[in-house]
Amino acid sequence: MNADKENQGLIGVHRRSSATISNRIGRLLLAWYRKAYRDLPWRRTCDPYRIWVSEIMLQQTRAAAAIPYYQRFLERYPSVEALAAAGEADVLAIWSGLGYYSRARNLLRAARQVAAAGHFPEEIEALKALPGIGDYTAAAIASIAFGRPHAVVDGNVLRVVARVRNEPADIGAAATRRRFGEIAQAWLARRDPGGFNQALMELGATVCRPRNPLCTACPISAACQANQAGTAAQLPVKLRRVEPVEVREARLLVERSGRVLLRRRELSLGRLAGFWDLPSPDQLPAARLGVPLGEFRHSIAHHRYRIAVARAQAKKPPAGYGIFAWMDPGQLERVPLSTTARKALKLAAKARTATCPRA
Ligand code: ADE
Repeated sequence: MNADKENQGLIGVHRRSSATISNRIGRLLLAWYRKAYRDLPWRRTCDPYRIWVSEIMLQQTRAAAAIPYYQRFLERYPSVEALAAAGEADVLAIWSGLGYYSRARNLLRAARQVAAAGHFPEEIEALKALPGIGDYTAAAIASIAFGRPHAVVDGNVLRVVARVRNEPADIGAAATRRRFGEIAQAWLARRDPGGFNQALMELGATVCRPRNPLCTACPISAACQANQAGTAAQLPVKLRRVEPVEVREARLLVERSGRVLLRRRELSLGRLAGFWDLPSPDQLPAARLGVPLGEFRHSIAHHRYRIAVARAQAKKPPAGYGIFAWMDPGQLERVPLSTTARKALKLAAKARTATCPRA
């Protein structure tokens, strides 16, 4: 079956009656989505486990960036039982580079609960009882995998609703999100809730974009009040709540015989507990500093890091300084590596090629 046919089948897979959709926005969106959808791997399945993995990955990661991770993850853990049997370090190693590692930890915890229960929950409340599954993910799985009539509310949906209704309410406020969610729920195409939800998110991602919305290509432009008022580019309104905090840090690149010295983050550190990173100067006080390799930026929540990287010479420090290990490139791929370590190693590789003598 080709992808197009397969997908058209999936779009209508939960159709309960052939009655025409009374809802105009829902009908227009579904018709548009059948022609305009991007053929993404998670759109070729109705397996709730695969849909769940994709929805978790897509929460903080763009679709193009998520694809290779999604494929690798499912090759390694093709079923919820396979994931449930995995060790946390292995799951984090496969996830490393995607960031927001609590997502991977929660996936594993939830997989163990599902495997122990012996079936995947289909109802939204049971889905929400699993670790890491909130309103958005529960509605996505329930609608896409099981055809349940729940509208999803993500950033794309909030933007489309704000524009269609020409609503300047702050989408950072819980009350606005709830109200906009009710509007999306009223639009929901009952004969295909999963197709409708994906169509609405796809519209937000590809047409009703945050900047430069493509209103002339929009299937619901005639119903869009912001389009008529010329206000689409100013919507949605999101008030900034927390000023970003600028933080400067440093990392040391210590190499010996093709191996790099890494330090494991303390298990009490919460979010990045157990991840391997390059040591900072205070973690290697006896290091002899070498040439600077440059700086990179890294953002987590409202923290904006600027991290300087320099070469250094050092031995593995004695116990009491933390857990250190010399790792070769093969080992680096098998351990959970922090994103800052990846960025620092990339910077070092770049500096290395820049200083290579020409052949
Ligand atoms: N964003 C996150 N999940 C999505 C999906 N299933 N379809 C479209 N956009 C999405």
